[in-house]
Amino acid sequence: IERTLILVKPDGVRRGLSGEVLRRVEAKGYVLAAVKLVDADPAVLAQHYAEHEGKPFYQPLVEFMLSGKVLAVVAEGQGVIPGFRSLAGATDPTAAAPGTIRGDLGRDWGLKVQQNLVHGSDSAESATREIGLWFPELG
Ligand code: GTP
Ligand code: MG
Repeated sequence: IERTLILVKPDGVRRGLSGEVLRRVEAKGYVLAAVKLVDADPAVLAQHYAEHEGKPFYQPLVEFMLSGKVLAVVAEGQGVIPGFRSLAGATDPTAAAPGTIRGDLGRDWGLKVQQNLVHGSDSAESATREIGLWFPELG
């Protein structure tokens, strides 16, 4: 069965939106396979965001991800990888369509595009890799 890694980022946890994100995932019909509230491990973050290393927003992004608790979630269901990306909406909350998590709940806080509430794996390869990083105990 297809699985994806979802993160409710520190802005979402801080704003009390963890339940709202999980509600939308479950209302869509996906099943929660694992959920945990964590302080992100810097080594895990470095691997998670390896593709962005060297970009100007990399360091602020990592610092933001270390600024509070993260809710890590494994969700499963047919098509859940593109399905959650669709639920999340565009990366920039200002551009994200209404009806999406980022479009309904996110906004531009100034200089902080990274505060876009959630992460979702972008491919089957990413999902396998990211689930292994955030949930080594599931391997
Ligand atoms: P994720 O699901 O979090 O991976 O988002 P994404 O796939 O829509 O975006 P991408 O993988 O390209 O970027 C990862 C994260 O880096 C984004 O979710 C943002 O938090 C942050 N980010 C991406 N582009 C920018 C940018 O131009 N500026 C800033 N400040 N942050 C960015
Ligand atoms: Mg991404």
